[in-house]
Amino acid sequence: MRFRHLLTLISVGLIVSTTIYLPFIRTTCPPTGLSLRELAVLNNTKVGAAVGVSYLRFEPLYQETLKIEFNSVTDEWSMKWDVIHPNKDSYAFTDADFIVDFAVRNGMAVRGHSLVWHEALPDWLTDYNWTRDELLTILHEHITTLVEHYKGKVYAWDVVNEALNTDGSLRSTIWLDTIGPEYIDLAFQWAHEADPDAILFYNDFGIETAGPKQDALIELLRGLLQRGIPVHGAGLQMHSSNTSPPPAQLATAIERISNLGLQVQVTEMDVQIYDDVGTFEEKLQRQADQYRGALQVCLDNPACTGVTLWGFTDAHSWVYWLLGHSYPEEAPLIFDPDYQPKPAYFAMTKVLGERYCQLQP
Ligand code: XIL
Repeated sequence: MRFRHLLTLISVGLIVSTTIYLPFIRTTCPPTGLSLRELAVLNNTKVGAAVGVSYLRFEPLYQETLKIEFNSVTDEWSMKWDVIHPNKDSYAFTDADFIVDFAVRNGMAVRGHSLVWHEALPDWLTDYNWTRDELLTILHEHITTLVEHYKGKVYAWDVVNEALNTDGSLRSTIWLDTIGPEYIDLAFQWAHEADPDAILFYNDFGIETAGPKQDALIELLRGLLQRGIPVHGAGLQMHSSNTSPPPAQLATAIERISNLGLQVQVTEMDVQIYDDVGTFEEKLQRQADQYRGALQVCLDNPACTGVTLWGFTDAHSWVYWLLGHSYPEEAPLIFDPDYQPKPAYFAMTKVLGERYCQLQP
């Protein structure tokens, strides 16, 4: 009896002392043994990854790594038109719901991607000559249905994706060609009406670097704001390489957008090593520098509210499909195909750890 009392006393003592002291031990500077996700939380930011539903469904290590290391997810495929709206009068939410429910269950934020894009469109939509009014009705219904379906679960949407050409003109798409440039204003308005709490982004690639496309982005955003359109931020995709963009260019892009009073997120980062020179290890070090640099400049500007990677393991990346290279000639993400953290992972955790320490009184 006495022995049991002693055991109880010891257990209670352990629990109380751990509860009191653990937060201090775990957040000593620099913090040790914390995951990317824990460090992101300490820095009050989001570090996310794009998720493929087939990997999430069938690979336990994929699930485990995702929930330990990231506090935000983006669905890589299944919120796109061709998957989620396969027929004019029906929606297929199962795959996207699987990802969103996983994220919500595990306390992760969800970025919705994307409501209006020129790719991944179903044949029923592209193989018919819609009138302007018909296409407006279809777009309105699509945006309203998706945003309402995920209301309260998706906190931010890429409303319009890749509407600009490299020279800064508007891209010729079914949307522009049939509706005219107002499709952009309308898409934001309709998304806002469906969920007034959602943060609405314009998302594109190649706007991280100086040039006509970045200038056009700034003008596009300025125009939206002047017309009172509910746009809240710009997403910089950041499909990068070991040499481009230099972090200083990203910092300038973030500053230009934040000067408009908008927030910025890095939304699809990966870093290709294929074109770089040197040994595999040297390439991985330079890749780590790119991830470190991007995270650092994002943390430097309070308008930058998160960094999402386009995948997280080198076993699964769209880059292989895009350019036809295979591992290890290409290896764009922060975990290797066996889920082992790469130098880029350690660079990111180090930046977050150091930043957290700088902010302590
Ligand atoms: C890509 C996916 O990663 C591929 O698997 C898919 O087949 C094509 O789309 N910019 C975007 C993303 O906004 O939606 C794209 O995702 C990558 C480029």
